Amino acid sequence: MIREEFFNSATIEGMLAAPGIKWHRDPPDVIPLWLADPDFPIAPEIKRALLNAVHDEDLFYNSDEKAREAMAAKITRRNGLEATADDVMITQGVLPAMWLSIWYACKPGDEVIVNDPMYFPFFTAVERTETKPIYWPLEMEEGYRFDVERLKERVTDRTRLIFVCNPHNPCGRVMTKEELKGLADVAVDNNIVVMVDELWEDIIFDGRKHITLASLSPEIADLTITSWGFSKTYGVAGLQMGYLCATNKEMMDHLKKIARGVQRGASTLARAAAPVMLDDTLNWWREDVMKHLHKIRALCEKRLEETPGVTYPQLEGTYLMFPKFDYGMTSEELEKYMFEEARLRFSVGTQFGPRGEGHLRMCIATSEAIINEVFDRMQRALEKLK
Ligand SMILES: Cc1ncc(COP(=O)(O)O)c(C=O)c1O
Repeated sequence: MIREEFFNSATIEGMLAAPGIKWHRDPPDVIPLWLADPDFPIAPEIKRALLNAVHDEDLFYNSDEKAREAMAAKITRRNGLEATADDVMITQGVLPAMWLSIWYACKPGDEVIVNDPMYFPFFTAVERTETKPIYWPLEMEEGYRFDVERLKERVTDRTRLIFVCNPHNPCGRVMTKEELKGLADVAVDNNIVVMVDELWEDIIFDGRKHITLASLSPEIADLTITSWGFSKTYGVAGLQMGYLCATNKEMMDHLKKIARGVQRGASTLARAAAPVMLDDTLNWWREDVMKHLHKIRALCEKRLEETPGVTYPQLEGTYLMFPKFDYGMTSEELEKYMFEEARLRFSVGTQFGPRGEGHLRMCIATSEAIINEVFDRMQRALEKLK
């Protein structure tokens, strides 16, 4: 199979025959767009690393040092942030980094700045820790620009943490160097900890460059906890592995103390697959997945343009589109209608905050054939609402 076909090979029948909650939560006539899991095969190099680990019986308690070394080398090389294995903690996916950051920076009642819209587990982390969310709004009409003046207005003497997601789920924005510098200045001037979720760092369009916030200066590095993972780039969410980095030793020691006895990182099998996902072995994958996603984005834009009553933000990063529907229905009503009438399962926009009203979020990491079927169904259903 030539590489292009590799990423364009998903069929409805094939996806239904494969494991994974995305295609199996709803009845089989429903096309799922709700979960950020790509419909791509798994890289042969990752499968080989996993199988080798099984052959080697790497199933006892084992040190995670080799994986942390590979992570630190990648952070130094690709993220431009000098890191050692001691600066890295392996987490069970990316979510634990959100919780650890709050436990590190806040006491109940303290304020956490979080975008609206934003990937909803950030809100959950704030709710569960009895801290107070302060919304830093992102507006579609402004191209979801990160307005640093608005951020400054939200800082008080109770602000302890700023949550950042870059590239941004669900807005699809990639922060510019100026936006990141503005954010870094606010954090440094006010001594506020920043937790940046950079899970989507590889899924970036139009030759943009992902910039790691902590790489901007030693001052912002000292205040920053950065988190990455593998689920979005390689479609391996099931490995349940992420990693965070804090180059501030005092901060890392404190984070380790909080984590002790609560989170144990990832399995030996996931850790065994880490090196091939972090070194240059899969450069071809990261390049080709983006070639395919550029085609898919162009197809989605063409189909959205021909759909009346729909506007959408430019997708700069992630494979999540966040169109807005002007049909006099709430996000919840529209999601239900699309499920019942079109047999399409989207994510409800307001799941990502009040500013998600009117939007549906859709994962577009699939084949052209499935995307065309999605838009055929969507357009037929919307036609009936006229
Ligand atoms: C921004 C962001 N962070 C974290 C996650 C969770 O990733 P993982 O399952 O690798 O922990 C997701 C999943 O979609 C995400 O979009």
